[in-house]
Parts: sequence; C-alpha cells; structure tokens
Amino acid sequence: AAAAGPIVKPLPPEWFTVFGTNAETRWEALRGQGFLTPNERFFVRNHILTPQIDPASYRLRIWGSGVANELELSLDDLRAIKGESLVASVECTGNGRGFYASQQGQTVSGTAWKLGAVGVAHWRGVRLSALLERAGLTGGAVDLLPRGLDPDYVDKGVNLGRVRRPLPVAKALKDVLVAYEMNGEPLPPDHGFPVRLVVPGWVGIASVKWLGDIQVAEEPLFSPWNTTFYRMFGGDHPPGGGDPLTTMNVKSAFELPWNATLTAGRTEVLHGRSWSGAGRIARVEISTDGETWQDAVLDPSRSATAWQQWEYRWHRPAAGSYQLRARATDEHGTVQPETAPFNTLGYQFGAVVRHPVTVA
Ligand code: MTE
Repeated sequence: AAAAGPIVKPLPPEWFTVFGTNAETRWEALRGQGFLTPNERFFVRNHILTPQIDPASYRLRIWGSGVANELELSLDDLRAIKGESLVASVECTGNGRGFYASQQGQTVSGTAWKLGAVGVAHWRGVRLSALLERAGLTGGAVDLLPRGLDPDYVDKGVNLGRVRRPLPVAKALKDVLVAYEMNGEPLPPDHGFPVRLVVPGWVGIASVKWLGDIQVAEEPLFSPWNTTFYRMFGGDHPPGGGDPLTTMNVKSAFELPWNATLTAGRTEVLHGRSWSGAGRIARVEISTDGETWQDAVLDPSRSATAWQQWEYRWHRPAAGSYQLRARATDEHGTVQPETAPFNTLGYQFGAVVRHPVTVA
C-alpha cells in the first residue's frame, strides 16, 4: 500500500537549497542546533518521490536462499523485538559534488550539492543481525538486497526497477539498524516511514528508505546501484570502474552561510563540524589565508563517532575577501587532500573546500 507523493516536509528556504526532489541542509541552519540534525532540517535525497505507506498493512519480508525461514514482519512485530539505539550519520555519496566544477573546473553529472547532503540522527530500531538470526541465516549467505517501496526508477528512459543495493553479509551483521524512529519520532515520510536501513559510515544509498523486503542470497547480488552507479568511473579509476563504494571519506564544513559577511576588527568564533565514515576525527586545522594553518578546538563534550564539532577564534580580521578552509584528519591518519580525484559521477569530493566570506 504505497502511493507516490511530493516531498512532504516543509522546506524553508533559510534551511534548505532544493534541487527537484532533493534538498540539502544549509550549514548555517545547523548553527546552535546541538549535536544532532533536527528532523525538519535533515537533507532529503530521493531517486523518485516519497511514497505514502499505510503503517497498518506494512510488512517487511526477508527471503531468499540465504535464510532457512522466510520472515514477514509487521511494524508491531518489529516494535516487539528488543530495540537498539544508534547515533549515526547518513551522507549522500555525492555530497560536495558541486566543488568538482567550482574548485577544480571539472564537469561531472549529478546533483551539484555543496556540503549539506549529510545529517546525524539518533536512530532507534532493531539490529539487522537480530532479524537475520531469526530468519536462520545460512553459513553460505554472502549478500543481501534491501529494496525500497518507492516507485520504479526510470533513468534516461530505461526502467531500472525499485531502488535496491546489495549489502555484504559481513556489514549487515556488524552494525546495521532496521530503524523506525529518528530523533525520538516515527521516521518522517521523506526519511523512510515506516522503516529504513541505517548503514553507519557507508554511502547513503546503502541506507535504503521505505524498506519493503530484503533478499538474502548465497551468491553475489547485483543491481544498477552497485554496477552502474555508486562506483568511481573515469579519471585514474580502473577501466570499467572501481569497486562498489562503501565507506565515506573525510570532510569538514563551516556553520556559515556561503558568501557570509563578517564584521571587521572583531574576533569571530567560527563553528563547524568534521566527519569520516571510517571513524573519529583526530584533528581539524583552519586556514584563513590558504597558507598557514592553526588547530581548531575540538568539542570534547560528545563521544563523536558520527561527526566532531569544533570552533576556531579568528582574531580581528581586516576587511577584505577571504576563503576559509577547514582540513580534518581522522583517527586513521587520513587527511583531507587539496584536490579530489576526478570521477565522472562526481562522488566523494573529500578535498578541502574553500568557503568564501567577506569581512566588512
Ligand atoms: N532509499 C530508497 N528507497 N529510495 C531512494 O531514493 N535514496 C538513498 C538512500 N535511500 C533512496 C533511498 C540516498 S542516495 C541517500 S543519500 C539516502 O537515502 C538519503 O536519506 P535521507 O533522504 O533520509 O537524507
């Protein structure tokens, strides 16, 4: 029981930049919002349209050669299973894509996001591993294929079917949540009501919304979402494309409007956040001139696996035009580079972003 609808969430222009059925959070809309992204300010990335699903007739099916007992679970069945909480980000693989053109002069296809296609929420639901255990996961199972209830995706006139993306069993058993709550509320329609996956640290497409069924198989599974899309093509990548993308890279953003105006001669406290799909952020450096770098102060108050808040005191800047830079290093020593490796679909722009501001 699913009908396609428009994006249901109101999208105030001071919080979002809207691209068709996609909407990115403006970073200035996170200033003063605390650690979590409020639901109403959380970015939306829809391949098609938000389906309106009747929670009473909703069922999640788990089936295939990789499970001994097929399961069919209602929302009440899911809620009756021991719940788990998870603070995790969801980030679009193409977050930052617009900078391939504006910083590197490269033409790539896809939505020209700045850095607002990421959000962090407190999710609640059931561990996917618990459901797989109930379903009697076989020793030979290798891949899952979670599939959404949104309408078929038609790309350049070709019907590719429902949004679905293979997920290896190892990741499914590690930390994936079958979520029905976001920041203490039922999932909002645009974020997957009634049930979605949350796949921590991985490309956003793995976190399938409006989850209808999960095929589990003893052989590798494929869909356009791990063959045609969400892999690196072109540039220095292997002919035919790189491996399906999994872990998201290191990024940083200032909680400032693009082209912000700041006051000359006054010390500005710049706020921002850095994040990495691979783990914690160890260090953030700031440059206001593109040459010298100083450490930002990391907020110690949160155990920040999803992202790290920080601040930097910019002492009495003189009037002029500046490009602010924030460069993070994660716990594995991965540092944001000066340039991002080109790929035709513009995925994973992880280079240091030059954020323009005017001091007047
Ligand atoms: N799941 C379905 N069924 N359909 C979609 O279009 N978009 C994916 C993923 N799950 C999508 C989906 C992509 S590309 C991203 S980045 C995230 O959902 C976005 O989640 P959000 O809209 O809650 O921010």
